[in-house]
Amino acid sequence: MPLDRKATPNDLNAFWMPFTANRQFKKNPRMFVAARDMHYTTSDGRQVLDGTAGLWCCNAGHCRPRITAAIQRQAAELDYAPAFQMGHPVAFDLANRLIGIAPRGIEHVFYTNSGSESVETALKLAIAYHRARGEGARTRLIGRERGYHGVNFGGISVGGIVNNRKVFGTLLGGVDHLPHTHLPAVNAFSKGQPENGANLADELERIVALHGAETIAAVIVEPVAGSTGVILPPKGYLEKLRAITRKHGILLIFDEVITGFGRLGAPFAAQYFNVLPDMMTTAKGLTNGVIPMGAVLTTADVHDAFMTGPEHMIELFHGYTYSGNPIASAAGIATLETYREEALFERAAAIAPYWEEALHSLRGLPHVIDIRNMGLIGAVELEPLAGEPTKRAFNAFLAAFDKGILIRTTGDIIAMSPPLIIEKPQIDELIGTLAGVLKTLA
Ligand SMILES: Cc1ncc(COP(=O)(O)O)c(C=O)c1O
Repeated sequence: MPLDRKATPNDLNAFWMPFTANRQFKKNPRMFVAARDMHYTTSDGRQVLDGTAGLWCCNAGHCRPRITAAIQRQAAELDYAPAFQMGHPVAFDLANRLIGIAPRGIEHVFYTNSGSESVETALKLAIAYHRARGEGARTRLIGRERGYHGVNFGGISVGGIVNNRKVFGTLLGGVDHLPHTHLPAVNAFSKGQPENGANLADELERIVALHGAETIAAVIVEPVAGSTGVILPPKGYLEKLRAITRKHGILLIFDEVITGFGRLGAPFAAQYFNVLPDMMTTAKGLTNGVIPMGAVLTTADVHDAFMTGPEHMIELFHGYTYSGNPIASAAGIATLETYREEALFERAAAIAPYWEEALHSLRGLPHVIDIRNMGLIGAVELEPLAGEPTKRAFNAFLAAFDKGILIRTTGDIIAMSPPLIIEKPQIDELIGTLAGVLKTLA
């Protein structure tokens, strides 16, 4: 029987692509058909150097044999097990390994399927945690301007990227935002953590004074904000947030969806900055981006608050059909093994100074108004084209792709986050090609 297919004028039409200029894309599609290590192969057979680890997720590079084999093996052995009231050893094994690399004090893992779901889970856990302890009035959630916490309702409510929020109605009530920490007037071209702006954490005291600490459940921030175009925490800022939240009994959630799994040269940003949150949201690098999976990591205090009541009762009415999916768990284990065997977190730390120097060599090129970096993250901010915000950076992205490098842009900021396996000559190629693009950009 032939398939009942309607003829369409454009066979790219059916797939409504996420966070994409669909009409522009479909006129001139950019397709990847294969990948290996640091490179993608395009549909017209070109090699493209991956300057973004996919979407901040393929930290070990592409099509790594150990991960591929683990997925194949697991799919053939135990494809799925019910996530509720049943278990399978692979998910427990991965949880133990995650705790093994997490900061001391983080002891439990709740599985999700994405960063967005990790955020929703953590926000719900925060509110339910206080209620379980008899502080049910603590329902307010505090995010930050320009924060990105995925795309679900909780995440966009605490998030602070205007375009992700403004067309989606009233969002969650009871949410406030800290100011962002982007201070180009005093911090432009800082190498690593900027000097100025720790005092912005004191705004939390103002919010506490306004509402009363007894109404606030949690503060959620990205330790390093990625999707908004890389905003770094000023020196002392995260420490202050921790001190103020602790003083007022407010949970601190680090959204580590991009900072987790070696991006800064430590397993998590919590270790890099030596600040212990109550919960960490993760995804992406957890499975090297290969299979959707996320996880919320919590302290024993958060977990134990739920472990009351009759033992036959479900303690937390929350979870996903695919929480701890066997194939995703197997991919997670193989990913962690790859990170460890190749010492990729240490590698990222070792190569970060070279990355920093290469990136800052772009200073002085046309349109460059700021450069920011930390670990294997880099951002180059461009002066917007007059009257056409985002267009200059988007043109840079298109030109870069033509010249064989993959970068990402958000607004007029170019963001890069290469796989942690990147070699020095590949850094030279990435930054050198970008320099060439910037020189020819209108
Ligand atoms: C900090 C942060 N949180 C949450 C998310 C959402 O993750 P996902 O796209 O897997 O839902 C992202 C994605 O970029 C992120 O960077």
